[in-house]
Amino acid sequence: MLSRVSSLLVLAQTTIAYYDSSSCSENKTFSSPFSIGNASLSSLPTIFAPAAHAQDNTILAQIRNTLALYPLCIDGKDFASLSLVFTKDAVANYSEPLNTLTSLSDIQTVLEASLAPVATQHQLGTQVVELFGYCAARSLTYFVANHFGKGVYEGQVAYAYGQYRDFWIGTEAGWRIKERTLAYMGPLIGNASIFAAQ
Ligand SMILES: *[C@@H]1O[C@H](CO)[C@@H](O)[C@H](O)[C@H]1NC(C)=O
Ligand SMILES: *[C@@H]1O[C@H](CO)[C@@H](O)[C@H](O)[C@H]1NC(C)=O
Ligand SMILES: *[C@@H]1O[C@H](CO)[C@@H](O)[C@H](O)[C@H]1NC(C)=O
Ligand SMILES: *[C@@H]1O[C@H](CO)[C@@H](O)[C@H](O)[C@H]1NC(C)=O
Repeated sequence: MLSRVSSLLVLAQTTIAYYDSSSCSENKTFSSPFSIGNASLSSLPTIFAPAAHAQDNTILAQIRNTLALYPLCIDGKDFASLSLVFTKDAVANYSEPLNTLTSLSDIQTVLEASLAPVATQHQLGTQVVELFGYCAARSLTYFVANHFGKGVYEGQVAYAYGQYRDFWIGTEAGWRIKERTLAYMGPLIGNASIFAAQ
């Protein structure tokens, strides 16, 4: 009976846990076991097998809401607000042709320039999030990026399919992506000429 009571107490302690971002530092370093940048598609189901331990729903909601800001920034062409999504020192491998972007300002500049010729709609889909304690997490999120041509390309479309593979850290300001890999799934479909600067 005693052990049953104490295990209930342990359960209560682990589930009543609220995220206190002030205890996390943007400069905390985490090593590569968390990285899923190069993981094969067939390894993902076991990597993201549901955790046996309880995950904090407040943190999960904060991470999902922060990730949802990404399409708002990109589609709204408010690249400055990507500072709400990525750390200043974020490294993002956007695969070819953009390749690895090595800071927030690099991400902002390169995405703004490469998407200047088009309007976009980014659709986030299937998603798994895994927390490591209260200051680090990783997530995998499917996307379809719809690109709409402008000017002489009005009415022309290009569709990209892939996954955002993100490593997150808790900072004093909230959750931010510190490492991203954009892994494409399948070819670009449609009229790639719409990306030509006009
Ligand atoms: C993180 O490191 C940078 C560069 O050394 C420093 O400017 C910043 O104040 C640090 N942030 C925290 C929360 O310690
Ligand atoms: C992914 O693989 C490339 C090529 O083998 C390697 O250079 C890179 O460091 C790897 N990236 C990660 C995040 O493991
Ligand atoms: C970038 O991501 C692509 C797609 O997952 C991978 O093939 C490539 O090796 C990565 N590059 C680096 C430097 O990690
Ligand atoms: C791309 O759009 C342009 C302008 O409408 C058109 O001339 C061209 O044939 C299209 N290319 C493809 C591959 O659909």
